[in-house]
Amino acid sequence: MLRALLIYLSKATWARRIVTGWRFARRSASRFIAGDTFDEALEKIQSLNEEGLFATLDHLGENVTNTEEAHKAAKEYIEILDRMEEVGIKSNVSLKLTQLGLELDFDLCFDSMKRIASRAAEYGIMVRMDIEDSPTVDRTILMFQKLREVGVTNVGMAFQSYLYRSEADLKVVLPQGAHIRLCKGAYNEPPDVAFPRKADVDANFDKLTALIIDSALADGAEPADPNGKVPPVTAIGTHDEKRIAYAKRYAEQVNFPQRALEFQMLLGIRSDLQKALVKMGYPVRIYVPFGTEWYPYFVRRLAERPANLWFFLSNFFRG
Ligand code: FDA
Repeated sequence: MLRALLIYLSKATWARRIVTGWRFARRSASRFIAGDTFDEALEKIQSLNEEGLFATLDHLGENVTNTEEAHKAAKEYIEILDRMEEVGIKSNVSLKLTQLGLELDFDLCFDSMKRIASRAAEYGIMVRMDIEDSPTVDRTILMFQKLREVGVTNVGMAFQSYLYRSEADLKVVLPQGAHIRLCKGAYNEPPDVAFPRKADVDANFDKLTALIIDSALADGAEPADPNGKVPPVTAIGTHDEKRIAYAKRYAEQVNFPQRALEFQMLLGIRSDLQKALVKMGYPVRIYVPFGTEWYPYFVRRLAERPANLWFFLSNFFRG
């Protein structure tokens, strides 16, 4: 109930207007967001790299409402890629298709994806498409497939274990060479689309983990790129220790190489676990968001864990 309300608020323009005006809200968000600028994100990534962690850089933004904003977002991603290459960090990029105008015009978004992916390919970087709410899933898969048709091979995508359809979708895109980030899913979906019970989302997560590992193993289980620019086919995006333990156990059982099994987590969450996995020898990648459009991302993080709301309110009382 609280989760559904928060996810509704994450999309409400009126709530965004109010909350982004509160200084304490920005301060609370800073736990999950590297800063407003690329330079702040860069500093964060450099310190993660020093600790043996890779990054995936996300310039915050989603659901743009006009083509100018969509063009601007694409241009900014290309500039970000240039800066990343200049400074040499162990990172790839993640983006949202609705930030590039998916809801306005598929072809406009496709064009931008081609340009971004082509610049990323010059630098040997893989671009990850985040997965958004269920009405965008068909078009995200179509985007992946159309990019492949025109020879773009450095674009991967994320999948959500809460969706009933994900297993069937993975069986289509894995043989097409998709690199996958598996996550549970952060939106509010109706019960005809997504498992309503957390136990089922978790069980499906493990099932899909095994499916992705099996497929990657059959294809030679390419390890993570040591420069951090290309995640392997199998990236497990969760902070849930039971899901992580299952992935490790299953991988060992089928002799899946450790460096082909990447764990991914969000900035500001379970940094102890991130470091422990690095110590064990797994590739670990941290999702590092930056930018001024932090509101929806932040409210989804609150929705995931009600305890975060108390942290948010304590910042309010501190003024
Ligand atoms: P779960 O919610 O069961 O949490 C397990 C434990 O993790 C908790 O007990 C707590 O300790 C910790 N934790 C989880 N969330 C926390 C939070 N917000 N604050 C503090 N602690 C928290 N979703 C999506 O729909 N599309 C996408 O593209 C992505 N991309 C993505 C990338 C990466 C790298 C990650 C890790 C996650 C995503 N997600 C996502 C978000 C994902 O779908 C999910 O909402 C969150 O990861 C929370 O779920 P967990 O798997 O961590 O499990």
